[in-house]
Amino acid sequence: MIQFPLLVGAKENTMNLAIIDEYAANKWPGPMEAQLAVASDHAGRRLKKAVKDHLLAAGLSVFDFGVSDEADKVDYPDYAFPLAESLAAGRFAAGILVCGSGLGMAIAANRVRGVRAASCANEFLARMARAHNNANILTLGERVVGEGLALAMVDVFLATPFEGGRHQARLDKIP
Ligand code: RB5
Repeated sequence: MIQFPLLVGAKENTMNLAIIDEYAANKWPGPMEAQLAVASDHAGRRLKKAVKDHLLAAGLSVFDFGVSDEADKVDYPDYAFPLAESLAAGRFAAGILVCGSGLGMAIAANRVRGVRAASCANEFLARMARAHNNANILTLGERVVGEGLALAMVDVFLATPFEGGRHQARLDKIP
């Protein structure tokens, strides 16, 4: 059985939370805590759904910030910030953001203090993002990687522990 170091200590929530279209914290009717959160813009919608289904099939609780199937073109910061801010507030153990390239989502999410978002395009990067950088958000590009590789990266990202030590000392230099 795969262990998920990122999820150790995460609040167990066996109820798979429903999809929401838009984030509005003060309108959200119930507890937001889930182990993982996902979000995408229109260019990452299909891969985001594949990632979510993959995580749900593994028995993990996933909160989906959208974008919805119906929405037209949207702006990635409008989806990156709600997830990143919620993660930084401790509502989720980790997040996965998907856009066309994976870059815009990472740029936006990394503006939130406490977030370390890593844009990855192969399994080595996904492993290093955790082992050396203690990344808590993986960003993926639907126009960059196929679904099989993306899901493999998600598994590696969740299964790899942070090595701490000298890597923590380096992270401590980043405000
Ligand atoms: C949308 O066309 C695309 O620019 C966006 O998904 C993302 O790749 C930006 O970084």
